[in-house]
Amino acid sequence: MPGVVIVGTQWGDEGKGKIVDILASSADLIVRFQGGSNAGHTVVIGSKKVVLHQIPSGILSPRKKCIIGNGVVLDLEQLLNEIRDIKALGYMKDDSSLQISDEAQLVMPYHKRIDLAKERARGKSKIGTTGRGIGPAYEDKVARIGIRLIDLFDQELFRDKLAQALKEKNWYLSRFGEEGFELYEIFHDFLGMAAKIKKYVTNTSLVVNHGLKRGESVLFEGAQGTMLDVDHGTYPYVTSSNTVAAQACTGSGIGPTMINCVMGVSKAYTTRVGSGPFPTELTDEIGERLREKGGEYGATTGRPRRCGWFDAVVVRYAVRINGIDSIALTKLDVLSGLPSVKICTGYRFKKKVFTEAPSSLRVWQECVPVYEEMAGWPEDISAVRDIKGLPRNAKSYVKKIEEMIGVKIILVSLGNERKQTILLENPFKKIHTVGTKRSR
Ligand code: IMP
Repeated sequence: MPGVVIVGTQWGDEGKGKIVDILASSADLIVRFQGGSNAGHTVVIGSKKVVLHQIPSGILSPRKKCIIGNGVVLDLEQLLNEIRDIKALGYMKDDSSLQISDEAQLVMPYHKRIDLAKERARGKSKIGTTGRGIGPAYEDKVARIGIRLIDLFDQELFRDKLAQALKEKNWYLSRFGEEGFELYEIFHDFLGMAAKIKKYVTNTSLVVNHGLKRGESVLFEGAQGTMLDVDHGTYPYVTSSNTVAAQACTGSGIGPTMINCVMGVSKAYTTRVGSGPFPTELTDEIGERLREKGGEYGATTGRPRRCGWFDAVVVRYAVRINGIDSIALTKLDVLSGLPSVKICTGYRFKKKVFTEAPSSLRVWQECVPVYEEMAGWPEDISAVRDIKGLPRNAKSYVKKIEEMIGVKIILVSLGNERKQTILLENPFKKIHTVGTKRSR
């Protein structure tokens, strides 16, 4: 039962969409297990560029089953648009290729309005959310007043739950000077959407478990990144879900014994979108150059991403928190042409140097990064297809990262396209060749 989890090791936008798209050819099922339409996974196939928000990137590979698990907060309107758009591009010809958990929580229109109103009220200390209502939807899940997909198929229950929620939400919105919502407007809109989505809705925990038991290969596709995890990230500048590998279990209804390996995706430098600490951020022309060359603009909001040097403290931490056993290094080509490149090896704070990620927000915010500087490489490497074909300095950079994070880099990505990839080892093939890692 080969289960492989893919997670981001930084603040999201590491290029997971492309890596999932590549590994999906070796998988039977691809599962999203957390987050929602805040994610934006960009995949480039030939001249087509597809941005997926809620549907797993595996949908672009024919004959794969894609699952949206119970851990996702679902924006139905966005999802229907996404289905329409990818069908228009010629994908998802077979409706049975998408299955959605009946236990997934719904993002309601009031969640989005509350998200935006709270951000406005936070002023300078705003989190910089995507405005997609993710935080308020997860808040309702934990407060046990959330509306789940299955509720839409029991009209009476849905109306009662919605009426209860609106009493509270309309009052809450009025505190921010915002308009409330009419019950029947939402009710009818959602029943209309429920009818369109019904064919995809099922008990996905059963589907994933049955698949694993039959020996099918399952790829669990993480969204956002480790440093945005609500427990382990740079709290409170995080998203509202657990983004780490363990969430693949709770967010899809499987047990930890079903996971064979965890692959981390790291960008060859670091980016962050939204507010919050970012020790290796570059606010100079090098940061600007990385942004322009790397096309570092948010796939969901279009916001310019903050850019900086590779932070080995962050990625080493992600390796620990996720139990990562291999890394895909992306966007190495973007660093070409820099006279030198830097890797952060520790944080200096009040005469102390931290080599492990700190828990204190103050240390994150006020530390000064300690760097190791290496010679850059002038060559354009975007057409290199073999690790041996990389310039010596680029190879040294990859090797140094490997040494610092203590995990093997098994894939190097040198551009957006599928073919711009050096795949040294395929985690699925390794499991099949070596057998399952643990005896069960
Ligand atoms: P939220 O998830 O919209 O509540 O936003 C919380 C924080 O997570 C903000 O800093 C967002 O910019 C960030 N964030 C959410 N989703 C993504 C993503 O897919 N990539 C990068 N940052 C994200």
